[in-house]
Amino acid sequence: MFDDHGVSLDILKKRAYNLRWATVPDGVTPLTAADPDFPSAPEIAEEIARFVKDRYFCYGPPEGLPEFKESVAGYFQAKRNIPASPAYVLPVDSAAFGIYITCKAFLSAGDEAIIFDPVDFLFRYSIESVGGIAVPFAIPPGTDKVDFGQLEKLITGKTKMVCLCNPLNPTGKVFAKDELTKLGEIACKHDLVILSDEIWSDIVFAPHVYTSIAAISEDVRKRTITVTGYSKSYGLAGLRIGAVMASGSEHFKKIMDASLHQSTVHGANVLSQVAATTALNKCGYWLEGFLAHLHKMRRVCVDELNAIPGFSCIAPEGCYVAFVNIKETNKSSKEIQELLMNSAKVAVVPGLKEWFGDGATGYIRISFATSDKILSDALSRIKIAMQ
Ligand SMILES: Cc1ncc(COP(=O)(O)O)c(C=O)c1O
Repeated sequence: MFDDHGVSLDILKKRAYNLRWATVPDGVTPLTAADPDFPSAPEIAEEIARFVKDRYFCYGPPEGLPEFKESVAGYFQAKRNIPASPAYVLPVDSAAFGIYITCKAFLSAGDEAIIFDPVDFLFRYSIESVGGIAVPFAIPPGTDKVDFGQLEKLITGKTKMVCLCNPLNPTGKVFAKDELTKLGEIACKHDLVILSDEIWSDIVFAPHVYTSIAAISEDVRKRTITVTGYSKSYGLAGLRIGAVMASGSEHFKKIMDASLHQSTVHGANVLSQVAATTALNKCGYWLEGFLAHLHKMRRVCVDELNAIPGFSCIAPEGCYVAFVNIKETNKSSKEIQELLMNSAKVAVVPGLKEWFGDGATGYIRISFATSDKILSDALSRIKIAMQ
């Protein structure tokens, strides 16, 4: 499934947008936005085809298909040790929208929310879209134990939320249980909502283990809104499907109101809910195979990048991206991006503030969710270009 023949470049060239194959000139390899180059599990296509055959595409329930809600709650119970209830799971048309509606539900204009730095731009974007203020907390790449006591110093009377991205895109950090315990204590002490984005939580490399912050204690769970999605672990980015999970009816109602699902102004596509339900119920074997392949690609990527003069990177604990320190090249990340594009024919994501915050300065991000051949060829071209 994940060998060199698994990737159909002809199809990707027509369908893969968001900085990827369909958006770059022929001959360029896009190791950019992070979603897999491999087709999704066959069971997903089969289940969608079965549904389509009936030719009924009726409105679904605004709060989500029961089978979707049960599958997501079942996943959180079984895999994350959270007493999740299907009643408080809402399908959303992407994890991105899940982050946005959580901000909309819990922040008013002028409220502050703490975000990590560096972190995916979606947090700042969502907070600012609802009139909030994003307050960055630095977690530099390679930070082993985060001193969350320092985070506490950023809390003011206006702080309403702390945004956890675990595993942390782009640095690949997976937070340990004691770090999450400390963060949970601070959130309880200052009465903060925790937005926990767990979209990467299935992409964790052994011996690292994943803990959901909602599993830390009942007090912490009560203030946590968990957001997840199926773009990364099951290759369903274009189906735009994710889930938001609340701990009880009060928070769920706020999320539901913010989603605009009840009015049908917004909603999660029924076919996409069928796809995600199938992924969770039948495609665990596919995810396991994908993870085993990624484990190998991580080694290839990190070893090759560290052999390039001026580049250094640590092996990510989670996520399928390498976050490469390029400071010793004495070039900016934008200059390196352009150099690699022009000389190596490889597209990468530069560590610009608009993508990841100030903490990404002097870094580039490289995705390794592709075949061994595509990755190895691209890395050797990068090596030659940098020499
Ligand atoms: C941390 C994080 N959250 C959310 C998303 C968005 O996922 P989706 O495709 O479900 O909107 C991404 C995608 O890169 C991400 O890295």
